[in-house]
Amino acid sequence: MLVSAKDMLNKARDGKYAVGQFNINNLEWTKSVLLTAEELKSPVILGVSEGAGKYMCGYKTVVGMVKGMLEELNITVPVALHLDHGSYEGAKQCIEAGFSSVMFDGSHYPIAENIEKTTELVKICNEKGLSIEAEVGSIGGEEDGVVGMGECADPNECKQIADLGVTMLAAGIGNIHGKYPDNWAGLSFDTLAAVKEKTGDMPLVLHGGTGIPEDMIKKAISLGVAKINVNTECQLSFADATRKYIEAGKDLEGKGFDPRKLLAPGAEAIKATVKEKMELFGSVGKA
Ligand code: 13P
Repeated sequence: MLVSAKDMLNKARDGKYAVGQFNINNLEWTKSVLLTAEELKSPVILGVSEGAGKYMCGYKTVVGMVKGMLEELNITVPVALHLDHGSYEGAKQCIEAGFSSVMFDGSHYPIAENIEKTTELVKICNEKGLSIEAEVGSIGGEEDGVVGMGECADPNECKQIADLGVTMLAAGIGNIHGKYPDNWAGLSFDTLAAVKEKTGDMPLVLHGGTGIPEDMIKKAISLGVAKINVNTECQLSFADATRKYIEAGKDLEGKGFDPRKLLAPGAEAIKATVKEKMELFGSVGKA
C-alpha cells in the first residue's frame, strides 16, 4: 500500500537522517529502487516528474505499475509515490490518479500566488490524507526543460508557506539539479539555518542530491533536512552500465540483445546507487 510521506519524514527529522526520493523513469528503475529499499529496510519516496509521468504513459499507468509491484514484490517498507515539481494542474491530476504525495512547485510565482495555490492544494491533500511539499526559492539547473538559477530562499517567505500546513518544504539554498559546475559555491548553510529557525519542526527537503559532497549532505541533515532528492546520479549510472555492456559487445553474444538482458546491468547499477545514497542518508534499517 502506498503511504503519505508524513510519518516517514517526521521520524527522519526526529532521528536526524533523511529519506531518499529517487525519481523513476521506467519499470526497471522502479523495480530497482523498490527492491533496494526492501533489502535495506529503508523507507523510500518514488519521485515522478511531469515529464517522466508523460513518458510512462500518464499518472494512472504509474500508479498501476507501482501498486502492482508493491504487491507482487512483497514490499513491506513504507513507500510514497510523489509528484516532483508539480504544476497546480499536475498536482490535481496526480491526486486524482492515486498518488500518495505531491509537490506543488509555486516558486516561480509571486509569493502571494504561491501562497494562494499552495493553500488550496493543502486543503485537498489534508482531506485525502496525502502529503504535500511546497517550494520557496527556485532550485537551479534544468528540470524538464525549465532552467532555474539556484536562488537562496527568503526565510520569512519559507515561514509563510510552512504555516499553510504543508508536510515538507523545499527551500533553495544554492542547490542545483543535475551536475554541479566547477565554480559552484556550495550549499548556503546560513540560509538553511535561518530557514530552520523560522520554520521550526517542518521537515526540509534538499533537491539536487546528485554530486553534493558527503560532508555537505551530513551537515544539511544535521540542520533539519529530512528528504533528499536524487535523479541524475541514477540516470548516469544506468547509462554508464548500459554503455559498458554494449561496448563489450555483450548485446551481440547469444541473446544479449534481449531487453531483459540488455537493461539488466543498468538496473543493477541503479540498485548500487540507491544503496550508496540510503547508507549516506542514514535511512537503512529505519523502515
Ligand atoms: P538531481 O537530478 O540533481 O539528483 O536532482 C533531483 C531532484 O532534485 C528532483 O527534484
